[in-house]
Amino acid sequence: MELLLLLCLGLTLVCVHAEEASYQGQNLNVKKINGDWHSILLASDKREKIEENGSMRVFVEHIHVSENSLAFKLHTIINEKCSEIFLVADKTEKAGEYSVIYDGFNTFTILKTDYDNYIMFHLINKKDGETFQLMELYGRKTNLSSDIKEEFAKLCEEHGIVRENIIDLSNTNRCLEARERRMA
Ligand SMILES: *[C@@H]1O[C@H](CO)[C@@H](O)[C@H](O)[C@H]1NC(C)=O
Ligand SMILES: *[C@@H]1O[C@H](CO)[C@@H](O)[C@H](O)[C@H]1NC(C)=O
Repeated sequence: MELLLLLCLGLTLVCVHAEEASYQGQNLNVKKINGDWHSILLASDKREKIEENGSMRVFVEHIHVSENSLAFKLHTIINEKCSEIFLVADKTEKAGEYSVIYDGFNTFTILKTDYDNYIMFHLINKKDGETFQLMELYGRKTNLSSDIKEEFAKLCEEHGIVRENIIDLSNTNRCLEARERRMA
């Protein structure tokens, strides 16, 4: 009996540890997504939204996590110039869901993250009775491995977004030079 108990305890610890390494589903430790990020891949079932001059072609610089909200500092290119955007997304009544007004009404969730390297978002935009999906892959560094990109592409397909509608931003202008210069 005691042995069984120990075995269960051991298994629980293994499970908890695995959960910590990579969140998918429940138990998101949202505080751990705080800090600097870079937009790596963008995907949408309405491609023009993420193409040049599309409203959703925005590049993340920083996420500040608070008790009931996420504050995003982003950039977008307007008339060939990088402009800052600040958005505050509030928690909704649904667990893990946030909402923000930007080119319509948006709700989003975090699909997956390992906190230290990547994070994947899924967003639904509603405006004038129309709706589209947006999926985003952010990295702590300026690029991510093709393994993580492939995982993201599969998640996009699961949500009905075809591969042709996934844009790799790593070789495009993401306003990296407009990011806050910090003392080394
Ligand atoms: C984006 O906007 C700029 C200036 O407003 C314009 O010169 C450029 O052709 C547009 N690009 C596309 C793909 O529409
Ligand atoms: C980012 O990684 C991809 C492979 O996933 C590679 O093809 C691409 O050239 C890299 N971009 C930069 C700017 O290093």
